[in-house]
Amino acid sequence: MSRATGATGATGATGTTAVTAVRFEHRRVGDGLGIGVPTPRLSWITETEAPGWWQVGYEIEVVDARGEPVAAPGRVESDESVLVPWPAEPLESRQRRRVRVRVWGSDGGASAWSEPADVEAGLLDPADWSARFIAPDDAEPGRGDRDEPPTAPPSLLRRAFDVPQPVERGRLYVTALGVYEVEINGTRVGDHVLAPGWTSYDHRLRVETLDVTGLLRPGANAVGAWLAEGWYAGKLGWDGGRRIYGHRLALLAQLELALADGTTQTVATGADGHWRAHASPIVASGIYAGEAYDARREQPGWSSAGFDDRDWLPTTVVERDLGTLVARAGPPVRRTETLRPVAATTSPSGRAILDFGQNLVGRVRVSVEGEAGSTLTIRHAEVLEGGELCTAPLRGAAATDRYTLGGDGVETWEPRFTFHGFRYAEIEAQGSRREAPGPDAITAVVCHSDMERTGWFSCSDERITKLHANVVWGMRGNFLDVPTDCPQRDERLGWTGDINVFAPTASFLYDCAGVLASWLADLAAEQGADGGVPLVVPNALEATFPAAVWGDAAVIVPWVLYQRFGDVGILREQWASMRAWVDHVVGLAGDNRLWDEGFQFADWLDPSAPEDGPQEARTDPHLVATAALCHSLDVLAAAADVVHAGRDGRPGDAANYRSIAAEVRAAFAREYVAPSGLLVSDSQTAYALALRYALLAEADQRARAGRRLAKLVRHAGYRIATGFVGTPIICDALCDAGEAASAYELLVQEECPSWLYPVLHGATTVWERWDGIKPDGSLNGVRMNSFNHYALGAVADWLHRTVGGLAPAAPGYRRIRIAPVPGGGLSWASSRHRTPYGLAESSWRIDGGTIALDALVPPNTTAEVVLPGVASDRDPIRVGSGRHAWRVPDPTAGHGRPAPRGGFSLSAQHPRW
Ligand code: BGC
Repeated sequence: MSRATGATGATGATGTTAVTAVRFEHRRVGDGLGIGVPTPRLSWITETEAPGWWQVGYEIEVVDARGEPVAAPGRVESDESVLVPWPAEPLESRQRRRVRVRVWGSDGGASAWSEPADVEAGLLDPADWSARFIAPDDAEPGRGDRDEPPTAPPSLLRRAFDVPQPVERGRLYVTALGVYEVEINGTRVGDHVLAPGWTSYDHRLRVETLDVTGLLRPGANAVGAWLAEGWYAGKLGWDGGRRIYGHRLALLAQLELALADGTTQTVATGADGHWRAHASPIVASGIYAGEAYDARREQPGWSSAGFDDRDWLPTTVVERDLGTLVARAGPPVRRTETLRPVAATTSPSGRAILDFGQNLVGRVRVSVEGEAGSTLTIRHAEVLEGGELCTAPLRGAAATDRYTLGGDGVETWEPRFTFHGFRYAEIEAQGSRREAPGPDAITAVVCHSDMERTGWFSCSDERITKLHANVVWGMRGNFLDVPTDCPQRDERLGWTGDINVFAPTASFLYDCAGVLASWLADLAAEQGADGGVPLVVPNALEATFPAAVWGDAAVIVPWVLYQRFGDVGILREQWASMRAWVDHVVGLAGDNRLWDEGFQFADWLDPSAPEDGPQEARTDPHLVATAALCHSLDVLAAAADVVHAGRDGRPGDAANYRSIAAEVRAAFAREYVAPSGLLVSDSQTAYALALRYALLAEADQRARAGRRLAKLVRHAGYRIATGFVGTPIICDALCDAGEAASAYELLVQEECPSWLYPVLHGATTVWERWDGIKPDGSLNGVRMNSFNHYALGAVADWLHRTVGGLAPAAPGYRRIRIAPVPGGGLSWASSRHRTPYGLAESSWRIDGGTIALDALVPPNTTAEVVLPGVASDRDPIRVGSGRHAWRVPDPTAGHGRPAPRGGFSLSAQHPRW
């Protein structure tokens, strides 16, 4: 039996206590102005060296723009520091408040006031808008085919205006039908990419609030906007796709100036006839297609005062319900990193190909010099085949950018309104250039929702650490405003099933609460009257049907956000949607309580499924569907407890859903479970589901199922035999069954299919298919073959919780579970996560027959610790905040697998890819 020697609060000294990171809702300072709720909840982090620190009270000071207090609620006796209620009068539109927080701790001490944090409301009421959407008066609706009018071409809009006084405060409220960028007096406003992002536009269209004070001056001014089709007017989906929202691009902009003499001035689209429009130098632009830009069509000074726009077209008002306008809940999309090519090669057919060394999402920025009219064409791909750019996996996405030179010195260009998933770029130059753009003149620009990084994992096995890095890149590439399946082909859709399984991993790696809360609002808005959930959100597909696990995202994603970010509000917001989906499926299951009819994706992409039938998995699809229903019922009942706690609500909900869950369990047992615990689908996914979702009533059955699962895993040679549903939970199920060693065998497997197979074959992101590239180096020729799909990377959640050993034990990590399970020949591992309360860490290292475990527990939280080698159902050690260290004998000593072979070198991996 291991004996722990522990030291808690090892740093000992009580240092100063400081309140930091004051934030509102799920927006960081830096995420911009214009919050969309009148009573934004506040969160903060306390930093203290005092061990076992607990907050006993807080005070929030709220002052107005003149520094006058507007609320003095005094000290509140509370230990809450995450998403606490707004303490002052609700904000009105445009109102700005400055907030400071101080806290009192269990050590009797008080903190100083935090640094002030500003919050400013956007336009909260449609009546705040004097602006109307405007469009260039050229694209006549209905021209051409009546049903399929042509999409309006990219255009420029502008308006000149005089400002009589110095500007004390300037705000631009802006959005578009399409995608836009705004300039004032020749300077770009903000740094957002592809604004307003993609939401279910018919229900929710995002507005930005931008501080433009510094861009305005007394005298002549001008504002201009670029407009292009984006998701609004572009065709989305495969086989040519379809245009979902409209064909007419339009801008809504309201510039509000507070002038030095106390007066205000508003410059708004649609309010007068002074807005003019012109064709853009962007000649074509599409999310899938890429962008074509002709620098010869530039009009220098077009967004500045004094520009002659007499030959520009008039604009016309486009009617649209301003009640659909909403503020952003999370961060905007931004450029977050640039990468230089790591290699420049000439392909066998003589083409110039650059390798950025990383499969990424964004676009290429190029600097070039040459004669007017010469062109540069940039094609993108994730992989090469035979040394040539391999665009087959992009299917219908042309992913081609073309720049036509203006001929005026060095020209630097990056497309504005498209993005590509690529590692390689092929550069083709035509016409006369003074100099070919070499690799030094070319940069890849990474773009995604600019979420705060919050999670890290590493371990002694470089291969696994690289797998984790690939998962992180997969998340970056697939969180470009909408959580998508893939970022490169003619899809890039918010597939519900993919985020259902990936949400726990996502919530560890980045603060994605705002992005996913927004997405869930779209999901609820697009849910059918019968509770049905679209397969993709926003719903870009014509056909939709109820699909288990995919539709269950309506229930599971809000629950994950509640667990990981401690936000009860998300559960309340989504409650009706969660319930509607479950009620819908309960209805489909009918009296026999089995969801046993209809098409299911189920254990999608089980490696044994035929290449043209990814749904034909070895696990019965309706077993999966009924198991998923049971899980959602459990979650819904637990959510009902939270949502209705202390409220009148419908207290019967929890009991009701628990009793339906019991009936579904009984039906599942009748239909699929032998008395011994064996299942009719004798597959890994079936056993994993039964174990994880508590579908086996008897301890004996669970033990039998656990043994059977381990045997199947062993018989499969520790190669993956699960699809989208089984893969994310297989390692947890094995650990539950006391078979952690088998989970590690799966993890460290190098042969295909396995997590490490792609890593060892040069992957820099997680692939959609285990054999996207075959062992002989050839490309898998299937049509559906993405090299950047996050779903199968959901194993990272197990890495964080079990290998590193850091998991939430109560919503928002208020209580943390530190319970690493060493294995797989690893000599150390570490999980770090910036919880809503501050940084938490679990790190262990095997050292001369003992394991040293180090933990960091943030202030205002506690942790339960299960030391390696100690049965997890034993009473855990309970500790408060601070650094802690323990040493225990190494339980794997003598019978662990040998440490992985050294010499894994990423650069040596299959250079031809
Ligand atoms: C997507 C998936 C998605 C699936 C559903 C695919 O085309 O890329 O990730 O969940 O379809 O069948």
